[in-house]
Amino acid sequence: MKFLVSEKKVDDIEADCEFIIVVDEKKEHKWIKDREDLETLSFKGKSEEVVFLPHQHRVYVGADSLDRDEIRIALSCAINVVKKTKYKSIKIGSYTQDCPATNTKAIVEGIKLGSYTFDRYKSEKEGSNVKSITLSTEDYSDKEVKIESSQYAVKEAIIISDATNNAKEMVNTVPDDMTPEHMAKKAQELARELEDVECFIGNEKFLKEQKMGAFLAVSRSSVHKPRFIHLTYKPKDAKERFVFVGKGLTYDSGGLSLKPSEHMVSMKADKGGGAAVISILKAAAELKLPFEVHAIIGACENMIGENAFKPDDVLLAKNGKTIEVRNTDAEGRLVLADCLCFAQELKPDYLVDIATLTGACVVAVGEYTTGIMGHSSSLKHQLMNAASKSGELVGTLPFNRYLKKSIKSQVADMANISSTRYGGAITAALFLDNFIEEEYKDKWLHLDIAGPAYVAKDWGYNQAGASGAGVRLCLYWLKTISNSHKKEA
Ligand code: BES
Ligand code: ZN
Ligand code: ZN
Repeated sequence: MKFLVSEKKVDDIEADCEFIIVVDEKKEHKWIKDREDLETLSFKGKSEEVVFLPHQHRVYVGADSLDRDEIRIALSCAINVVKKTKYKSIKIGSYTQDCPATNTKAIVEGIKLGSYTFDRYKSEKEGSNVKSITLSTEDYSDKEVKIESSQYAVKEAIIISDATNNAKEMVNTVPDDMTPEHMAKKAQELARELEDVECFIGNEKFLKEQKMGAFLAVSRSSVHKPRFIHLTYKPKDAKERFVFVGKGLTYDSGGLSLKPSEHMVSMKADKGGGAAVISILKAAAELKLPFEVHAIIGACENMIGENAFKPDDVLLAKNGKTIEVRNTDAEGRLVLADCLCFAQELKPDYLVDIATLTGACVVAVGEYTTGIMGHSSSLKHQLMNAASKSGELVGTLPFNRYLKKSIKSQVADMANISSTRYGGAITAALFLDNFIEEEYKDKWLHLDIAGPAYVAKDWGYNQAGASGAGVRLCLYWLKTISNSHKKEA
């Protein structure tokens, strides 16, 4: 699908079909051309309401406002209506006068994110006939500046949506196809394709050399051997150093503390954090952001077998701390512990881990929202701000000293689960906190994406299945920081 920007008026652009966003159907909208039909169809212009008029070649779609996420949802609805038709070209107005880039991006993101389909395992592919989307800049006041910024906005939105869809595809792919080894191959492919990107892959021998006893224990019973994946994007004159760490459990059966069948289904999504950090790095390189960005993925499978690690084992993590295993299903924090130790050796200015870490986080904030945890309120605010722009939903969960005590162990430095059943998302993050050195406490954030990484039904412009949670959130955050540098300069 190609996106074009045109200075022509929408009415003068030739296309098979036009998309029209309606915010309030009663108002004198210059875009509404079929008032009678809309009235007959009782079209109210509410969010997610769509009407397709095939004879007029127009799709009307409602929106509660022209906020970015309303635009994304509206465009996602519209593109899904015409996807099955014979239309090859679509045109759409700009719906703005003051901030063209923002709305242009939302339009492109809504279409690209909304039209993703996962058909890898279907004999018949859905496909789409739509080949081109033309955006008119007719509403822009300052034509020359605006068309350029609009074209750039389109390019950015394509990169960001492609990265999100890339994460979805990795997460949706089944565990026997997306093994740790295959994830590593995907990372190596990126390094070959992208400028200034390098990839290091560590196998079991490397994990032993690095003394990553916790990561090794989790991976040891699977026939699919673990991979430590380290991607680096390092442009010339890079400013800050960002290190992203992702939980890459290509499957989480729970291990010997085996999950009940209904909870095991969808655990292919336990690599959501890993897929997110790979995709963030891909987009950072494509956007040529002025930062050094690292993506570290602990990729392995949590299985059962004669060699499986077990409750009662005591593990030795990379930083020399010991962990009493009380539940093998709390495995993500074990893998992350070792990866976070490695990450700090890179001396990051910002350290962010992304993980489908706890069911408790889903209980706390619901399935659509990412739980943000960390010591720095400034960092948490930055991410909250990025969330509202990106369309991802977040909520912060607070640390406290009493919950910290709940992961004490009588036999080791800490236990891998809490002694209380409440606040499980927070106690998991506090477990990770044991692996963050004093110097990095305020540079670290933990994103628990257990809810939004994989949702059973469609929501907004997200399809049932993987949503690429964390990708747009972090990219909008990185973009905001790079824009603030530009303003300073
Ligand atoms: N991968 C799961 C968390 C999860 C749950 C992700 C639901 C996505 C949806 C994680 O490894 C896990 O099993 N956590 C346990 C921790 C418990 C044993 C303390 C959980 O949440 O039940
Ligand atoms: Zn688990
Ligand atoms: Zn898990």
